[in-house]
Amino acid sequence: MQDDRLSKRLKTEYKPVTWANHPVQIDAKGSTGQLAAWRKATIDSGFAPIEFLLPSVQATFVDRLPDSMQAAEEAYARNPGALEKLLEHRWGYYFYLGGGYSTKSREHGEADGRAHAIMRVQSINDVVAQLYGRDLKGKTLLDMACNWGGMGIDMATRGCRVTGFDIRQENVDKARDLIAYLGTPDIEVRQSDILDLTPVKNGTFDVVYNLGLMYHLTQPIEAMEITYALCNEIAVVDTNCSREAFSGFAQIQVGNVNQPDHARGARRLELKPTYRAVIDMMLAVGFKDLIEVTLDLKDFPHSPSRHVLETYNRRRIIGFK
Ligand SMILES: C[S@@+](CC[C@H](N)C(=O)[O-])C[C@H]1O[C@@H](n2cnc3c(N)ncnc32)[C@H](O)[C@@H]1O
Repeated sequence: MQDDRLSKRLKTEYKPVTWANHPVQIDAKGSTGQLAAWRKATIDSGFAPIEFLLPSVQATFVDRLPDSMQAAEEAYARNPGALEKLLEHRWGYYFYLGGGYSTKSREHGEADGRAHAIMRVQSINDVVAQLYGRDLKGKTLLDMACNWGGMGIDMATRGCRVTGFDIRQENVDKARDLIAYLGTPDIEVRQSDILDLTPVKNGTFDVVYNLGLMYHLTQPIEAMEITYALCNEIAVVDTNCSREAFSGFAQIQVGNVNQPDHARGARRLELKPTYRAVIDMMLAVGFKDLIEVTLDLKDFPHSPSRHVLETYNRRRIIGFK
């Protein structure tokens, strides 16, 4: 019988996937290896330049622990025994705990973790503080996927009233234990998928932190809409992103969703946005102005974190409502 589907009126053929005009061979196993090869190919062929499409402010890395971490010395002096409980957790992120200890004391990578943590505070919290003339007293701040709570703890010690959420109860437990150890005022952390947050249920916040989250989701556009809906004044979006010069998403297959430091999303597939997609999403949901925070990494130690920063595969964008 004749196939009279419309699509059959066109004469089509299957072509094998080819990677013309660049030398990379896609022989890696699994999507992560293929993505890495694709990325190399796009970079080599000039398709993934480092673009700067927004007005920017520059943060400078200075090797100095933030006040919130220096204050841990007092917590340690008050109750050194409490440290044991903290060190039982498997931490993904560095926080100084006093007495020469840190959340990463029992793991490798402490130096990199330390520099990374300092850089995050200096390129996000310091810039927000600067924006408000250092007067953060009483500002409400939502930390959307707070993990160990460190960024919110730092803002609470500067006077913000902080609410943190994380999808994983283990992370909420870690953050609560750290907050209790430090005695940080005005911060609470609860378990929730950020997709379940609404202004009616959760209220709105002067500052919304959407940090390290956008590339762990399968509904990034909804997440950006929620970021906007919960925000009164500014939102900071800090995310890994691809450099290809179009607005879109790379599909990432996650090897281990339940990795021990619990920094992943909840699904086996994640959509990682390009830089242009982050900008387009922020504008589409309603942010009126966008400013990017770039980094002067002169004194940042050589490390995997430095590589990600230098290659501009992570961007920090402040959206103004
Ligand atoms: C890479 S970590 C980022 C942690 C922290 N915000 C930062 O930037 O350093 C990603 C965090 O997002 C959390 N997360 C992933 N998907 C989430 C969701 N749908 N709702 C709330 N938290 C989520 C994870 O549990 C993890 O703690």
